[in-house]
Amino acid sequence: MADLNGMTDWEKLKGMLQQKEAATALKAIDEKALLAHLRSRVKGQDPIVEDLARLLRLQFARKNSNRPLANLLMLGPTGTGKTELAKALAEALFGDEKAMLRFDCSELSGEHSKDRLVGMPTGYKGSEEGGHLTRPVLSNPRRLILFDEIEKADSIVFDLFLQLMGEGRLTEQGSGKVADFTQSVIILTSNSHAEEIGKIQDSHTDYHEMVNGVKGYLADAKVFRAEILGRIDRVYVFRPLSGMIVAEIALLKLSQLAKSYGLAVKFVAPELVLKALADNEKVSRFGIRELERILFDMFADPLASAREQGAKEVQFDVADGKVVVRKA
Ligand SMILES: Nc1ncnc2c1ncn2[C@@H]1O[C@H](COP(=O)(O)OP(=O)(O)OP(=O)(O)O)[C@@H](O)[C@H]1O
Ligand SMILES: [Mg+2]
Repeated sequence: MADLNGMTDWEKLKGMLQQKEAATALKAIDEKALLAHLRSRVKGQDPIVEDLARLLRLQFARKNSNRPLANLLMLGPTGTGKTELAKALAEALFGDEKAMLRFDCSELSGEHSKDRLVGMPTGYKGSEEGGHLTRPVLSNPRRLILFDEIEKADSIVFDLFLQLMGEGRLTEQGSGKVADFTQSVIILTSNSHAEEIGKIQDSHTDYHEMVNGVKGYLADAKVFRAEILGRIDRVYVFRPLSGMIVAEIALLKLSQLAKSYGLAVKFVAPELVLKALADNEKVSRFGIRELERILFDMFADPLASAREQGAKEVQFDVADGKVVVRKA
């Protein structure tokens, strides 16, 4: 380095490089903190969230690995928290929900699906743009990658999954660059065979026995290729949400809504929670996707008014079936 002396501020450069390395290096995981974060966003799926926090601590503690940090398969009814858990995990591990790459496999069913993921081969138009999967991972390998509805993907995409989950690397067509997935978490979700899986869920009270039942079923019924199942670290089967859990989620969502108006909610009359749940049940018997809209319809107006009157904390009571807001 002697002949380069004076060319730059070496101390400053060293500091900057160290900072960059520290930012990209895998940090040890604080299992308790991770669990608390996941629990704060995902309700009613405790066995899954607990197992996941533990698995990640164990994986992060490894010195080196030649496969992704975790390959997870998430099953269970719609609107039970699969995507929510993926987002919460991306936020906790990589500092930002946006570290999540999401692919809808129903859009990866044609013959060009491979080109979309790993780029066009050399000589084809667009080959310099790279793939929708490889390019973001080449620029930042610390990612959570979510593939939704994998049963709809083309078999050529499954071949890519096998490589990605088995070797932790994929070569971009065109550029020949190798994307490294060893710092990524891979999540596959599927709604396939939901009815049978639901029956197995209903017939077990113990979570682990139920998961074993589901795994046996997936293997026997050849729902996925055996090689895929062989590369999955965990199969998580999400539970349908009970009324109490939906109530908890409603309160969580209400507090998020209030926060967006700069307000904190100190109290909500139980009758109002019950009404939101009943309205939700009317429109979406099998999910809670409408809940957010229903809460908005019920509470956004009083929240905005309270905000305009300079409140910081509010409580919601009920009079003649209507929402009454009070400064707390
Ligand atoms: N267990 C849960 N805890 C907290 N919020 C939840 C839970 N389940 C669902 N939600 C809320 O409901 C919405 C839909 O949930 P999510 O997107 O996670 O469903 P999903 O299980 O991925 O369903 P799908 O199989 O249709 O993709 C999210 O906005 C989320 O906030
Ligand atoms: Mg989802």
